[in-house]
Amino acid sequence: MKNESGKTISIWMETAEKFPTDGKLLADAHADVCIVGAGIAGMTTAYLLAREGKRVVVLENGVVGGGMTGRTTAHLFNAMDDRFYELERLHGEKGARMAAESHTAAIDRIEAIIRAEHIDCDFERLDGYLFAPPEEGQHDLEKELDAAHRAGLIDVEHVQRAPLQGFDTGRCLRFPRQAQFHPLKYLAGLTKAVRRDGGKVYTRMHATDIEGGHPARIKTSDGYLVTADAVVVATNTPVNNLFAIHTKQAAYLSYVIGARVPSGSVNKALYWDTLDPYHYVRLQHMQDDHGAYDMLIVGGEDHKTGQADDADVRFAALEQWARVRFPMIENIQMQWSGQVMEPIDGLAFIGHNPLDQPNVYVATGDSGQGMTHGTIAGILLTDLIMGRENAWQTLYDPARITLLALPEFLHHNLNVAAQYTDLVSGGDVQSTQEVIAGEGAVIRRGLKKVAVYRDDEGALHECSAVCVHLGGIVSWNSKEKTWDCPCHGSRFNAYGKVFQGPANRDLPQADS
Ligand code: FES
Repeated sequence: MKNESGKTISIWMETAEKFPTDGKLLADAHADVCIVGAGIAGMTTAYLLAREGKRVVVLENGVVGGGMTGRTTAHLFNAMDDRFYELERLHGEKGARMAAESHTAAIDRIEAIIRAEHIDCDFERLDGYLFAPPEEGQHDLEKELDAAHRAGLIDVEHVQRAPLQGFDTGRCLRFPRQAQFHPLKYLAGLTKAVRRDGGKVYTRMHATDIEGGHPARIKTSDGYLVTADAVVVATNTPVNNLFAIHTKQAAYLSYVIGARVPSGSVNKALYWDTLDPYHYVRLQHMQDDHGAYDMLIVGGEDHKTGQADDADVRFAALEQWARVRFPMIENIQMQWSGQVMEPIDGLAFIGHNPLDQPNVYVATGDSGQGMTHGTIAGILLTDLIMGRENAWQTLYDPARITLLALPEFLHHNLNVAAQYTDLVSGGDVQSTQEVIAGEGAVIRRGLKKVAVYRDDEGALHECSAVCVHLGGIVSWNSKEKTWDCPCHGSRFNAYGKVFQGPANRDLPQADS
């Protein structure tokens, strides 16, 4: 699948358009549970509820897995992205233990579903290696080893180096029984099973209004209404929550390259370093007309969404980092980016939507572990909707206030507040004549700020530069050809059409 600028979106996305779904919704409908968003969280929830006998309707703005699940690198790991010692500080030893337990259970559940549904999605168990750059020393790794053991991961161990030829990582931690898979082949299997169990999966259906109550009412941009006993919003970042959650998580863009390496030249495992932002590495077996090879998938170089426009520099930095450590790289075949939602206290927000009706649920805050957090969402939300107790409910409660994360909360919200100075500053350029073909820029026109895009044929397209979520000024992303909001990560295509929340409406035309 290609994006607006004709680039391949990610290594996985070829699969997405081929899913058999129910296409577009063509009449009003009723369901036991309506799920908005068909990524890993939405489809896992749909699958598990359908298995319980619930009639589910899934509404997806684009195609199944077409959001951030299609851009993940699909590491399945319980070696927490934010470190166990940090989770222990924020959530206590019991919280860290539960985080380990829930992510371990998520990997196990994915494996069980794959087995039960016979999903061919390249699932493999493998080790994960966490290593520190030499200048950082071993102190953090030692702290992490102790904290991982206290969290119940007693098999985690120090090893002399990761099993990489030509790159000595130094002493590192080995996390056994991690895993990887092809996320969209997995979603294809879930979609098939949901429909077999009586669920409906509608694509290219934008949910414009989501209201809880009895029944919950979900309106679509085509004018149809879905009523349901409960609604789950699993849109990466919730489009039905104006404020409460967005003060507690920040949107980052993370960059990924796919490098061709000879088959078997790099030992298959997951690799992560401890830099901030960190690098993450895995392999995917590939085949083309010339035979088998491996794609080395290397990610990192994150920045806050909308707060930098230097993707080429970041891709070059990734390539340089990778070539030094993996000299067998033949060429770089792919580049893409994806959005990561970073909660201020390191764990996803899964459960009842704060300040909303009791039958409205959300799943967000992937924290770089979207595949396992998304699966935890499926397990936890299914229990909540079925009226069952779940031991993880408090840990992942979207209404939680983690007092020890107050510095992170202030830091995030001061950063957001600083973005609003763009409301009174000048534009990127003085006039539309400075906007070259294929590019966009924000222009001040009187009191207004206008997002101007000149297409490849030279025609101008103008919309308001004021984000429809909470009024931030969007920034041009020249690599993706998108308008990105630096406040909470809403994203719009070059013509102002929303494709990433929390905004749930397009940017208005400039003269409206
Ligand atoms: Fe919140 Fe734009 S995403 S103001």
